[in-house]
Amino acid sequence: MNNRIRNIAAFALLALGTLVPIQAQKVTNHSIRSGEIWLDTDGNPINAHGSGLLYHDGTYYWYGEYKQGETILPDWATWECYRTDVTGVSCYSSKDLLNWKFEGIVLPAIKDDPKHDLHPSKVLERPKVIYNEKTKKFVMWAHVESADYSKAAAGVAISDSPTGQFTYLGNFRPNDAMSRDQTLFVDDDGRAYQFYSSENNQTMYISLLTDDYLKPSGRFTRNFIGQSREAPAVFKYKGKYYLLTSGCTGWDPNKAELAVADSVMGEWKTIGNPCTGTDADKTFYAQSTYVQQVGGKKDAYIAMFDRWNKKNLKDSRYVWLPVSLEEGKITIPWHEEWDMEVFADKPRFEVDKNTFLLNDKSFV
Ligand code: DGJ
Repeated sequence: MNNRIRNIAAFALLALGTLVPIQAQKVTNHSIRSGEIWLDTDGNPINAHGSGLLYHDGTYYWYGEYKQGETILPDWATWECYRTDVTGVSCYSSKDLLNWKFEGIVLPAIKDDPKHDLHPSKVLERPKVIYNEKTKKFVMWAHVESADYSKAAAGVAISDSPTGQFTYLGNFRPNDAMSRDQTLFVDDDGRAYQFYSSENNQTMYISLLTDDYLKPSGRFTRNFIGQSREAPAVFKYKGKYYLLTSGCTGWDPNKAELAVADSVMGEWKTIGNPCTGTDADKTFYAQSTYVQQVGGKKDAYIAMFDRWNKKNLKDSRYVWLPVSLEEGKITIPWHEEWDMEVFADKPRFEVDKNTFLLNDKSFV
């Protein structure tokens, strides 16, 4: 009897052993084709909008708005505030920026408390996650809204692991100012900043966070006053800071703008639209969300955008493009299809625990 059970168990394990690897990697992506449906490693469309990436210990994590169900326009709406019910923040992981494994909903909606910020009736947008070396915590900030879009606040959540679950800590208006579209940026010295559209989206605030990254420190600057910039995405290149933003036209595309500063809290100067090629004046029918430096590579950046489908938000697509740094000029040219080979001639960083060889096929 014991032998029979052992044999059945061994057979089941063998069958599982042959099945699991096949099921785990059903889809392999070899290139980036902006605007198309992107599949995760299970073959499902990637659902992570208004997103940000985190590069941690050789793995990229992609966090975004998980948009499910019907897109609705509330009865009271006097503007195009299309939305889906809040379902939560999704997370995907990848070693190569092409093949993404779904890690689940790392900050789920709270369905049974209509007062909660994460109740499906509310609005949850533009989540970003950073890692705090001192506290060893992963910290998420997002734009949280009341159902009538009047809250304009930041919600903060925390986790011990990049794949969650995140614990929601609550919301506030940072520096007593409205906070809508937002991003986070960690400088080389470990200081972290929140960039957020404030004062009814007219002014971009830059706010130094406390050492634990959970609150504003109280030091902040007001930038691009009255210029209505949204969708901030920040990166550092050759010691200077760059801020990519969109204009403010709801879900509809408009012209992107790049600005530069010598220090985060210093003076920001507008450079102009970095996008080039067909439909560059409409940001390729997309809106900025994040700029990711490619791990292991110096001077290699990917600009990430959302191509919103306002009447069917869950079918919004992604536009990811390599940033061109030719002759010191920053541009974002359109590419129909590209892969990480575009960064092949970029020098590598000194090897440390957070770098890996991008073109090493063992990561693909
Ligand atoms: C533009 C913002 O960038 C999006 O995140 C979203 O809030 C829409 N406006 C809503 O209209």
